[in-house]
Amino acid sequence: MQTLNVGLAERSYPIYVGDGLIQAYDLLSPYLSGRRAVIISNTTVAPLYMSRLVEGLHEHGVQCDRIVLPDGERFKNSKTIDTIYDELLRSHCERSTPLIALGGGVIGDMVGFAAATYLRGVPFIQIPTTLLAQVDSSVGGKTGINHPLGKNMIGAFYQPQVVLADTRTLDTLPDRELCAGLSEVIKYGLIRDLPFLEWLEQNIEKLRARDKDALQYAITRSCQNKAEVVGNDERESGERALLNLGHTFGHAIENGMGYGVWLHGEAVAAGTMMAADLSCRMGWLKTSDVDRMRDLFQRANLPVRGPDMAVEKYQELMGLDKKVAGGKIRFVLLEGLGSAVITSDVPEKLLKETLKACCD
Ligand code: NAD
Ligand code: GLY
Repeated sequence: MQTLNVGLAERSYPIYVGDGLIQAYDLLSPYLSGRRAVIISNTTVAPLYMSRLVEGLHEHGVQCDRIVLPDGERFKNSKTIDTIYDELLRSHCERSTPLIALGGGVIGDMVGFAAATYLRGVPFIQIPTTLLAQVDSSVGGKTGINHPLGKNMIGAFYQPQVVLADTRTLDTLPDRELCAGLSEVIKYGLIRDLPFLEWLEQNIEKLRARDKDALQYAITRSCQNKAEVVGNDERESGERALLNLGHTFGHAIENGMGYGVWLHGEAVAAGTMMAADLSCRMGWLKTSDVDRMRDLFQRANLPVRGPDMAVEKYQELMGLDKKVAGGKIRFVLLEGLGSAVITSDVPEKLLKETLKACCD
């Protein structure tokens, strides 16, 4: 098992990465002093892992309430949040009762938001079960839901008390979801960790084949990168925005195609290739670097082009991004492999050229 730390003064917390951690009661016990917890999962993950977690807690005298939500990005909305509040109120959950998110990023983001807002804040624990959630969404405290007008537009910064990434849960993850998670792994290499990008170029096939050691290494290295960035800039006043490489384009794809049609990681992969194309048009990235990126995403079985949507539609949807400031879209672009920048100074002509060149 590897142990990392997110350093945020009194809101600091550990991330544990290892095989079989769902049953490691000793890692959870410091956060369960009230002897009661609410575990929130979905209809896919609950049948696989809920009883394993509950049995361990029951053995140690912890009362567990369970909430099982419908599965899917299209349920990441205020209606589902209301069903969580309904259950918590009905069962008289108190301020000291932790909510445990057992699932992928959709569950983690929603449970975190419910924890941030129920009774103005209750403790929150992340047990991520997808690669994407283990390398990205469970760490850093961004929580929230989608709105018909924009992805993740309603939310709160609210840190978990502990993150338990059980790599054994990845055994049941469908291949398409595993590949979607690789998109966010590649992101860390591109924005700030060139040696990791080079390691990924050497080991991407091992990751796709679920080699245990390779996965453990990639998850730990990704979490290290994320913990450093979040520790420097928790509320995204600067450096943290770099973690959104490909996301302005990607969120437009997810929203434009209908939530859930393109997986988040798939949309981010195509979006990252659009950001690379734009970086090249800005004169910052070499064509050979863009080719190198395309090759890696393709080997990870991820899309490298956006879907067929009108250029104007992309632009309209990108204008809804959270990074828009003073009416201008702030782009995360690459100056080179391993080095990202944020800029609002992108000529519209170049953006249109990118959208035309990079979409089907
Ligand atoms: P997801 O939560 O929808 O999970 C993907 C699918 O895998 C779901 O059907 C889920 O039920 C299933 N699943 C989960 N674990 C499984 C397992 N072990 N075995 C079998 N099936 C399993 O999607 P995701 O990719 O984990 O997360 C995407 C979400 O995360 C998006 O909503 C995105 O906006 C959000 N996100 C948030 C952050 C953040 O910082 N908060 C960062 C990145 C992404
Ligand atoms: N996934 C982007 C962030 O956590 O900031």
